[in-house]
Amino acid sequence: MTDQYLLPYEWPGSYFIDEEVIDAVNQVLLARSPHRFYGHDLQHTTDQLEALFRERLGRKHAVLVNSGTGALSTAMMAADVGPGDEVLVPGYFWVACVSSVVRCGAIPRLVDIDDTFTMDPDDLERKLNPRVKAVLVVHMSGACGDIERIAAICKERGVTLIEDVAQANGGSFRGKPLGSFGDLAIFSFQYNKNITAGEGGMVVCDDDLLADRLWAYHDVGYARNAAGRVDSGARVQSWGQCVRMSEVSAAMLIPQARKLDQITGQMRARNQQLYAGLSAIPGAQPRRVIDPAGDSGPFVIMTWLDGETCRRLVEYTRARGVRPGPHGMGNICMTDWGLHIYHHNVSLVEKRGVNSAGRPWSDPLNAFHTEISYAKGTLPRMDDLIARSNLITVAPVLTEAACEQIIALFREAAGV
Ligand SMILES: Cc1ncc(COP(=O)(O)O)c(C=O)c1O
Repeated sequence: MTDQYLLPYEWPGSYFIDEEVIDAVNQVLLARSPHRFYGHDLQHTTDQLEALFRERLGRKHAVLVNSGTGALSTAMMAADVGPGDEVLVPGYFWVACVSSVVRCGAIPRLVDIDDTFTMDPDDLERKLNPRVKAVLVVHMSGACGDIERIAAICKERGVTLIEDVAQANGGSFRGKPLGSFGDLAIFSFQYNKNITAGEGGMVVCDDDLLADRLWAYHDVGYARNAAGRVDSGARVQSWGQCVRMSEVSAAMLIPQARKLDQITGQMRARNQQLYAGLSAIPGAQPRRVIDPAGDSGPFVIMTWLDGETCRRLVEYTRARGVRPGPHGMGNICMTDWGLHIYHHNVSLVEKRGVNSAGRPWSDPLNAFHTEISYAKGTLPRMDDLIARSNLITVAPVLTEAACEQIIALFREAAGV
């Protein structure tokens, strides 16, 4: 055992909380105007951040919210997901990807992953059926899979495509930014993400009606007028969730958003170094990243011959410092990756209701759910990949020298 930690903590944006961020936050506080719609001396940081992302992503609309979970819920509501609908979701996800569907009263159906560790387009084609209202593609662990093909399938079938870019902000596919492929796309600015306000999120789209729905659902259920007051004449009048972003959070995010390419660039350089070094170990298989130039960089995933080998290598290297300090994850077997793995979600496996009446499972419109399982074994490819893969977190401050040591330790553990 060693107390030397070769991996820095895995919270990429946290390394960019600097004087510039502090000044930006102070400006909002000194103006005593933390609410986005009105105040003593509104600084319009939320407006500025939305404009920055609209331009960066080439999208017409951006709506900031207070979490990625809030972004998913708002997007599901905007997409009109409700009882009787299915939403297709990959099995490697975060719990919010399914809770946002269930809370809308709809039923998630799992799609297997392939060696990109994201949705398998072939299984997507097999699972599509007339009840599917939306497909949620999740760009897990920093990079996407075959998003072009998935977008083409959804377009051909007339199904709404929602991209979850929470873990891949700043990533791209063949030069096109992630978050520009779906009818809707969501982001998270939670602490683990590439830029962070501790908590935060965003939804983007191009369609004007979808945007009106996003504005209403993320707020009090009605659109606002130019003065920031509820517009009772708005074309969308519904029920809101009040998941607005504060001006303070946006102030934290603007300086980081301007450095997003620098942040992802630093992570990608180390991620590629690790992939190159670890892939040279006999029997090691790197995650298939179709466009490595578009990997946003915060993770490396390696697949080994079997689960036993994977665990042995992780334990050997962790004991010799390939881990972060006591508060981080760092270098783990993916079987230990918590609520990212579908069958670890007890509420899903057991089809627990959001209320005591057991909704949405008890809703007669959802009676078809009896043919759907979430138990381990539902997604054989994913089960096999997760059982023999490990995940290493890559912070922007990880050094080249530390990566060399990490590669050497994995080689030593593998006996090469
Ligand atoms: C893929 C994915 N989607 C959605 C979310 C939800 O984001 P948040 O934690 O901001 O609610 C996360 C966050 O952890 C995530 O990893």
